[in-house]
Amino acid sequence: AEKQDLAGRKVLISAGPTVEPIDPVRYLSNHSSGKMGYALANAAAKRGAEVTLVSGPTRLTKPAGVKFIQIQAAAELQETMEKNFSKSDIVIMAAAVSDYHVDQVAPQKIKKNGQDLELHLVSNPDILAGLGQIKKGQILVGFAAETENLLANGNKKLQKKNLDLLVLNDVSRTDIGFNAEDNEVRLLRARREPRLIAKSSKDQIANQIFDEILNLA
Ligand code: PMT
Repeated sequence: AEKQDLAGRKVLISAGPTVEPIDPVRYLSNHSSGKMGYALANAAAKRGAEVTLVSGPTRLTKPAGVKFIQIQAAAELQETMEKNFSKSDIVIMAAAVSDYHVDQVAPQKIKKNGQDLELHLVSNPDILAGLGQIKKGQILVGFAAETENLLANGNKKLQKKNLDLLVLNDVSRTDIGFNAEDNEVRLLRARREPRLIAKSSKDQIANQIFDEILNLA
């Protein structure tokens, strides 16, 4: 049996992509499969936590023993995270959130007319940075998906979003990161050397992330 070292902790996790509509049949999204976030939810539940998983559309099976909330667009994810934040002890944003949404979602399917089409994209709020502003004792964990200048970009996000821990992902590799079975990450904390978690399954990485979270206090 798993050690119940997260018993009594309320853990809120976001996972998967967001989907930003263009018209009734089209959308903007990204390559997140949800695997990393679902692995975190499964690991926390097995270790005794009370888990709420907020998920964009994925092909994965809902983890057992977890409260599950389905979302689509970033706006809906933001509303759900903010609503559940104050009653949580540990909050992890593993979702790959769209940084933009389409300004005017077309009410009907856009017809082609031989001309080019321009979409005007408007910035989405940074959900995680917003949680960093309102946190009161919650342990706040963010992810960073980077393709270059990994450590510099990761450290910037750690600081700017007021995080306790940042999980740095190299998404330029195809053997880890988006949609892969395995991952390899660096755990970044303020005033500490980054800690490499060598390539292993997302389930193993998830457990190592919770080991680190329990070491934070
Ligand atoms: O789902 P998988 O296929 O398993 O792949 C997911 C992953 C392995 C790549 C995952 O671990 C990961 O890196 N997820 C976060 C991807 C991401 O959106 O990173 P980012 O660097 O764009 O954002 C940084 C952080 O801010 C993230 O915690 C993100 O959830 C959050 N964010 C970003 C934009 C925004 N508007 N609001 C946010 O809250």
